[in-house]
Amino acid sequence: MSTSTVRLPITSHHPLAPVVGGELMAPLIDGGVARYVNLDYAASAPALEQVNQYVQTVLPYYASVHRGAGYASQISTSLYENARTLVRRFVGAREDDAVIFTRNTTDSLNLLAGCLPQDGDVLYLDLEHHANLLPWQKLPHRSVVAADTIEGTLPALERELVDGTVSLLAVTGASNVTGEVLPVARLAALAHQYGARIVVDAAQLAPHRRLDIGSDGIDYVAFSGHKLYAPYGAGVLVGRADWLDTGLPHLAGGGAVKTVRLESVSWTTGPARHEGGSPNVIGAAAIAHAAQVITGLDEQRWQAHESELRAALVAGLDELPQVRVHRIFSDSVDSIGVVNFSVQGYDAGLVAAYLSAEFGVGLRDGKFCAHPLLTRLGLPSGSLRASFGLGSRHDDVERLLSGLAHLLDNGLGRDYVVDAGRWVPAVETRTFPDWAPNTPGTAGAAPCTTD
Ligand code: ALA
Repeated sequence: MSTSTVRLPITSHHPLAPVVGGELMAPLIDGGVARYVNLDYAASAPALEQVNQYVQTVLPYYASVHRGAGYASQISTSLYENARTLVRRFVGAREDDAVIFTRNTTDSLNLLAGCLPQDGDVLYLDLEHHANLLPWQKLPHRSVVAADTIEGTLPALERELVDGTVSLLAVTGASNVTGEVLPVARLAALAHQYGARIVVDAAQLAPHRRLDIGSDGIDYVAFSGHKLYAPYGAGVLVGRADWLDTGLPHLAGGGAVKTVRLESVSWTTGPARHEGGSPNVIGAAAIAHAAQVITGLDEQRWQAHESELRAALVAGLDELPQVRVHRIFSDSVDSIGVVNFSVQGYDAGLVAAYLSAEFGVGLRDGKFCAHPLLTRLGLPSGSLRASFGLGSRHDDVERLLSGLAHLLDNGLGRDYVVDAGRWVPAVETRTFPDWAPNTPGTAGAAPCTTD
């Protein structure tokens, strides 16, 4: 057997897993069409084809959950409860952790915020997106400005933890702005050393890295289906049951109760306490199926796919003289498929409008719901973010890079104006499909936020 270095095949020329809309064609401003290059996975990832097919299979059996004796109700109930088991495995949860289905990460973190003990502060870094920042502002809290290294940030957190008055450290698993991965196991150990618990916002991490909250010592984890290739309106909170069983129910309503009298109620415990009303069985089942598909990926191929794409994109951006790639830490060693950059001399929203109209590329611009971080990075009016995943391919990176190179060599091919707060072509030629409600860029189109 050869002892030479094993070379991985280049995996990034094709999607690693097919996604719905992966071959979508988008109109261009010049009247042509191009395959739509979706580089906005970090905002909302497309559905995996396998998840879509699974949903089509189970949809005929969709019926009430937990409250019907009918055949379809029984199947729906078993789908919903089995989804908890699959999600528990996906995150490596402890046997006695609660698995609660929510609407999304924001909902999960708000739920947890409603269950914290009265004493103690929540501690968070300034790099969080608003979902992992605003729920804590409603409670006694403290924030820390991250240092320019991860190694410098840990002692900055420790200085706040050391007096033992922090009940919860809330931290992202990977920055939604730059993709840099935080050392969550080390942060968990640090929190526990001073009697605090830790919640990891895995909205960005879960679609890109295997989770193992049990062995990493993470008390709570939250993520969203719509970023995990399962855009059917569900999210997840998993973690220690004691706080969740004593906190006020997140959604007061049917299913969350033991008994109800006209003027009083006795709430149940377990996940049902927080899942009042009819649950999103399809959303939960879709997340669980996406989790199974991701668990079944060959990890080496998966990571090679995304790191090749990231390396190609960063190398290509670095070659463009007016483009600057942004990062938070100078010592981060691991980043997911998220790259943040600006083009000198161009407003981020204008570049995004140009890439869409002239190159068929969709990416996100703005402040990424992370205003404190963008301000501190010296980007108060925002930047650009390219993000990718299982359905991405090398050609997506090439298209973005050639669009940017073309801009720097030739300038904009059209005039653009600001309409309702967003850059749009001054003369729009593209139309939506017949069934869609509006035309892009015209008055009356749904307002977009660059939040
Ligand atoms: N947190 C989401 C994003 O980064 C909304 O786009």
